[in-house]
Amino acid sequence: MDEPKAKNVQQWTAEPAGAIYAQSPRGTKEFFDQVEAERYRQQPWTRELIADLEPAGKRVLEVGTGLGTDHIQFARLGAIVSGIDLTPTSIEMTKKRMEMEGLHSDLHIADAEALPFEDNTFDIVYSFGVLHHTPDTQRAIHEICRVLKPGGTALITLYNRHSAFVARIWLPWFVQRMLGNPATWESRVQAIEEGGAEHAPLIKLYSKGEVESLFTQFTKFQHRREHLGLGNHGSKAEKLEKIFSKFPLMNSIYNAVGRYAGWYHIIHAAK
Ligand SMILES: C[S@@+](CC[C@H](N)C(=O)[O-])C[C@H]1O[C@@H](n2cnc3c(N)ncnc32)[C@H](O)[C@@H]1O
Repeated sequence: MDEPKAKNVQQWTAEPAGAIYAQSPRGTKEFFDQVEAERYRQQPWTRELIADLEPAGKRVLEVGTGLGTDHIQFARLGAIVSGIDLTPTSIEMTKKRMEMEGLHSDLHIADAEALPFEDNTFDIVYSFGVLHHTPDTQRAIHEICRVLKPGGTALITLYNRHSAFVARIWLPWFVQRMLGNPATWESRVQAIEEGGAEHAPLIKLYSKGEVESLFTQFTKFQHRREHLGLGNHGSKAEKLEKIFSKFPLMNSIYNAVGRYAGWYHIIHAAK
C-alpha cells in the first residue's frame, strides 16, 4: 500500500469518524447508538438524503463505511447492501453494527480506486466524506460509474474549499504564519480530523468547478452544499451551535447559510 493510503488506514484505525462523540467502550451497542445520535443531531440532512434515494429493494454499495452509521440506515430501509473500506477496523465495526440488529451486508476490505465488483452491479453507490482522502479521486469516481447500472445514482460528498469552515481555520492559520509559525496549510487541514495532527491523513479540498470536472462521465449532475459546521468538538462554537439548534428560526438561518457556504459538496450523479 502506498504511503498516503497507509496513513489513512492509521488515521481511521486510531480515530474512526464520529467515535469521539461516544463515551461508551468502542464496539458496544451504546457506543454505536451515541455515534448515530450525534451524527444525525449535527447532520439531520444526511439521513434525509439516504431516505430520499428510496433504497428499499435496491442494490446499494457504500464506499468507505467507517463505523457503519449511514450503512445501517440503508439496510433498515430494506436495501440489499454491500460496503467496502480500506481500513480493516471499519469493516469489522460495520459488521458488528449490522449483526447487532440482525442485518446483513456484503462487506469487504478494499480500495475505492479498485472496486471488487462487476460492471453494472448497483442501483445506488453512496460515499460520504471518503473520496477526498484517496490519492486518485478521479479513478475512484470512474470505478463508481463502472459498477453502477445504467440509470443508477451516485450520491457522493466531498469537502468544500470555499466554505465558512475553511475560512474559519484559514484566517488564524494565516495570521500565525505571518507571525512566523512554520505550520503548513496542509498540516492545519490535517488537524481538522481528530488525531489528524499525529497521523497526517491525506485531505483534499474541492471547488465546485473541480467537483463538476470529476463527474463528466455521468449523464446527470446535481450539486448543492450543506453543513456550516463551525463548531469543532468541545469548542465554544459547538456550544453556540447547540444553543442555535434549540431555536427553530435561528436553526433555519444557520442551515440556510450552510447551503451557500457549507463544508460538504453534495453530488447526485446519474450514470
Ligand atoms: C472520514 S471517514 C468517513 C466514514 C463514513 N463514510 C462516515 O461518514 O462516517 C473516511 C473513511 O474512508 C476510508 N477510506 C479512505 N480512503 C479509502 C479508499 N481509498 N478506499 C476505501 N476507503 C477509504 C477510511 O478508512 C475511513 O473509514
